[in-house]
Amino acid sequence: MSINMKYKEIISSLPRREVSQNFTSFDYYQYKGFWFPLAFLESILFMEENFKAQPCNIFLCGSLKTGTTWLKSLVFSIMTRHHFDDSTNPILTKLPHDCIPTLEIDCDINFTSLDDTKFPLLGTHLPYTCLPQSIIDSKCKIIYICREPKDTFVSTWHYTKKLEETIPEFKDNPITLEQEIEWFLEGKSLYGPYWDHVSEYLKASKDRHGKNEIFFLKFEDLRNDTLSYVKKLAEFMGKPFSQEEEDQFVPEKIVATCEFGNLSNLEVNKSGSHNPKPGIKVNNNAFFRKGEIGDWKNLLSEDVAKSIDNITKEKLQSLIWD
Ligand code: A3P
Repeated sequence: MSINMKYKEIISSLPRREVSQNFTSFDYYQYKGFWFPLAFLESILFMEENFKAQPCNIFLCGSLKTGTTWLKSLVFSIMTRHHFDDSTNPILTKLPHDCIPTLEIDCDINFTSLDDTKFPLLGTHLPYTCLPQSIIDSKCKIIYICREPKDTFVSTWHYTKKLEETIPEFKDNPITLEQEIEWFLEGKSLYGPYWDHVSEYLKASKDRHGKNEIFFLKFEDLRNDTLSYVKKLAEFMGKPFSQEEEDQFVPEKIVATCEFGNLSNLEVNKSGSHNPKPGIKVNNNAFFRKGEIGDWKNLLSEDVAKSIDNITKEKLQSLIWD
């Protein structure tokens, strides 16, 4: 049996979330308690069996729309600062997702995109439970970013609408806000349940606390004090800024390069596009919308906000969002 047939057989036995009878290729499947579309799930199953992490790999993890593009731009700039300066940084001409590939999305099943690069940074939206075991066994460093659940939902909603513009099947049958809210609350969102995604990494970061293996970060903290987090991230990565670099304001320059207004105004991010898998094209500007805290107030009713808050209180008691 071919690899693809083997995975298709496994996937066909999984619980399914239907979008519409008209376009089943956008259905999600529940694997190890989380929801994924077919194309990602095939990669996930393959990676689970075959991906060999190196101890030097650093994984940038986070669910969708939690600030992963921004985190990639900061970490990439920290890592490569001895090779580029603030005028030659590849972040100025490439989407951050094209600087750091995302394991289950950008890397094809033959790993060609991974073999080509010995670069230690990799991204993934995978829940902790679904990470290939070699990442855990190799004690790779993990940087995890999470975001206030209501803002994460709202950001995902706007992103989905942008994607729908490029997918003909959705043009005539757009998903409604009510339906998307229902799926999010039931945990049936892409890579959801969102709260379980966060709580698994939170638990792992506590279990592995003191071993300097998982850096757990909130979008809101990064937004409120980017400079000090850039310094903490550099230390965590084993690349602390020297006194000379501090004197030359290297951390401040990295913050400025990756600041929302700067990134979103770069030509590549205004007019470029990203093609992670055959048939999927995302305009780069979909990754840069507002970058604000509390934008949920512009979309969600009080009742929906309360429903989300109740689950957050129940599942993530130890995380506080104002
Ligand atoms: P909004 O939709 O609320 O604006 P991801 O990168 O994980 O897809 O998350 C996307 C969210 O991060 C979007 O949130 C986007 O605008 C925001 N974002 C992107 N770049 C950012 C930056 N440099 N600073 C702050 N937020 C940023």
